[in-house]
Amino acid sequence: MTALGVVGGAGWLAGALLRPALAKGAIRPEDLILSSRRPTIAGFESWPAVRATTDNKTLAAQSDVVILSVRPEDLAGVEADLSGKLVISVMARVTMADITGRFGCDRLVRAMPNASAEQALSFTPWFASPAVTPLDRAFVSSFFSASGLARAVPNEPDIDYFTGLTGSGFAFPALMARAMIEHAVENGIAPDLADAAVRQLMLGAGAYVSEAKENAAGIVKSFVDYGGTTAAGLTAMIDRGSDAIVKAGLDAAWKKARQG
Ligand SMILES: NC(=O)c1ccc[n+]([C@@H]2O[C@H](COP(=O)([O-])OP(=O)(O)OC[C@H]3O[C@@H](n4cnc5c(N)ncnc54)[C@H](OP(=O)(O)O)[C@@H]3O)[C@@H](O)[C@H]2O)c1
Repeated sequence: MTALGVVGGAGWLAGALLRPALAKGAIRPEDLILSSRRPTIAGFESWPAVRATTDNKTLAAQSDVVILSVRPEDLAGVEADLSGKLVISVMARVTMADITGRFGCDRLVRAMPNASAEQALSFTPWFASPAVTPLDRAFVSSFFSASGLARAVPNEPDIDYFTGLTGSGFAFPALMARAMIEHAVENGIAPDLADAAVRQLMLGAGAYVSEAKENAAGIVKSFVDYGGTTAAGLTAMIDRGSDAIVKAGLDAAWKKARQG
């Protein structure tokens, strides 16, 4: 099996990726070593064989594959020789050129999971450098598939694009939910009732949209063509610029992702 080291293993995203991978057997606890600046790492009590260290050089020496999962501003504090390793970065805004220049690794993958990884519902695009081998690719695909749907993408800049589109996870749908709850409360619905109603609505929407034969455009068209109250609501939202507002938000997130 592959020895896996995770720099930033105490972090939120690392735990969300690793717990489903451990639970599904995509990695073995005895093959996993985590690093953080703090001396103890919580969240892995179910797997006592998982090791922890505060020394990234120790982690690198004991690993075939190293995942970099620190905040971009903390990368400068990571001291390790990663030459000869498969290195997987899940960091937003840090390019392959930055990582290769700093750590001297040429087998490099950039991936962009999202906050639904813990529920095994992430969408995780990944891009591999030319030196990444078919065996490496199989490991990457299996590891990220444990926490959701993983797809290889053809170009590194695609990762910056997906940082905005899906790396934000449920944040953008939550904005829609917030507006709906506020509207319900403003119109006399009790806050707890509005909250329960919209939570269930989001659950149903996610289940339907993810499994529907038709795509999102087709779903919207069906409702508009039907011509009922839903069509009145959709038409008012579209006429007020709902598409342009969503696209402006995605543009802003994409721009931030490209800024490094
Ligand atoms: N959260 C998301 O939804 C999400 C989605 C996609 C991508 N990302 C990317 O994932 C990365 C991690 O995000 P996060 O949300 O998991 O952040 P986080 O919860 O703050 O975790 C980062 C971890 O890095 C550790 N760390 C910092 N410097 C270190 C060092 N020199 N050696 C070892 N560990 C070190 C910290 O350990 P201590 O606590 O001990 O200081 C902390 O636990 C970021 O680059 C982010 O862009 C996050």
